[in-house]
This record gives sequence, C-alpha cells and structure tokens, in this order.
Amino acid sequence: MSDIISSLEAKRVVPLVQSDDPKTALKISEALLDGGLDVLEVVLRTDAALDCLEAIAREFPHAHVGAGTVLSAAQSEEVIRRGASFIVSPGLDPASVEVANKADIPILPGISTATELQQAWNLGLRTVKLFPASLVGGPKMAKALSSVFRDVRFMPTGGVNTDNLKDYLAVPAVLACGGSWLTPKDAVERGDFAAITKLAQEAIAIAQG
Ligand code: 3PG
Repeated sequence: MSDIISSLEAKRVVPLVQSDDPKTALKISEALLDGGLDVLEVVLRTDAALDCLEAIAREFPHAHVGAGTVLSAAQSEEVIRRGASFIVSPGLDPASVEVANKADIPILPGISTATELQQAWNLGLRTVKLFPASLVGGPKMAKALSSVFRDVRFMPTGGVNTDNLKDYLAVPAVLACGGSWLTPKDAVERGDFAAITKLAQEAIAIAQG
C-alpha cells in the first residue's frame, strides 16, 4: 500500500483511462506519463477495458496501473489477474475488499455517506474514494467526514476538474483527486494526445501550487 500512497501523496491526481482499444489506451497512458502522472486508473467501462488494463500494466511496469469501476469480487479477481496494482470501485463491496486484501492489493471503495464510511472503516480501510464528490458536498463533505473519521484519507472523484481541484486538495484529509477531466474524449478522438500531457502538467502545477 505504501508505494502507491507515496505516489498519490506526490502527485495528488489520478487520471481515468477509458478506451475501447488497447492501442489508444496505451497512447493515452503515455501522454499522462509524459505529463508526469504515474498513477493511472483504467476504468471497466468498455468491452476492451480488461485488455487495455493488461496492455498498460505490461507496457508501463514502473507506473501504478489500477482498475476502476470494479463492481464485484469476480471482477476484482480478474483485474488482479490482468495486472492491476490497485482497485477502485464506485461503492463499497465487502467481497471485493476481501479479494483485494487476500491478494495484498490496495482497494479504494467509493463512499458517499458517513454510514458507508463507517462500514469501510470497520473493514479496516483507511483510504476511500469520495464519490460522486461534487454531488455529495464536495470539499466541505470531505472536511466534515474527516473531522469524525480522523485517520481516513479521501480520494474525491466525480466532478473534479481544473477549476475546483485546488479546493479539494486544500482539505488536509484529501490524499488525491481522481477524474476523467484529464483525458477528454474529444482530445482522444482527435488524436490530440499532447492536450492530455498538457492537462496532466497543469494538474500537477495546481497540486503543487
Ligand atoms: C469515476 O469513475 O470515478 C467517475 O465517473 C469520474 O467522474 P468524472 O468523470 O466526473 O471525473
């Protein structure tokens, strides 16, 4: 866990990689890595997502390549088999947590209420995704939850962008923010991977500012 946590602490931004083609996914990932981001979340939202994950994990062994939108224990097992070094899920699924724990792979489940966070806490988790962050209260929600769950760190995701990133990262309990704003579909469709590198650099500048 410490390895990925150190990278999250350093860069504080986790871009989502979504593609229906492994070759395109590799180009997106390369653009992000060129921009300085080294924790990538490949989301299971296309038929080719597992192939994309496997290709990225193989091609960039020094990056932290995780799987996102993981919904079940079976999917958790599959993404670990395909090379995921961490797992992110939209909600809290104790069976997936068990699979991840057995494999010694970090898992960041999504929570959006104090009750869900308490369940995650009682499963031994101390790093969670706050999702969908902008709809459940944004930075103020992370702050409010952290005043009670003092040893929990959050990765807000959902509605984070260049304009509000700073506000989220200003909350001490926010470890990093995740999101798709770094990999816009139109840039991918145009083949404008330089735009993705630029967005990654901008995000790092905001995070370090
Ligand atoms: C996720 O999978 O975490 C969210 O769908 C990302 O939300 P965003 O597209 O608003 O960044």
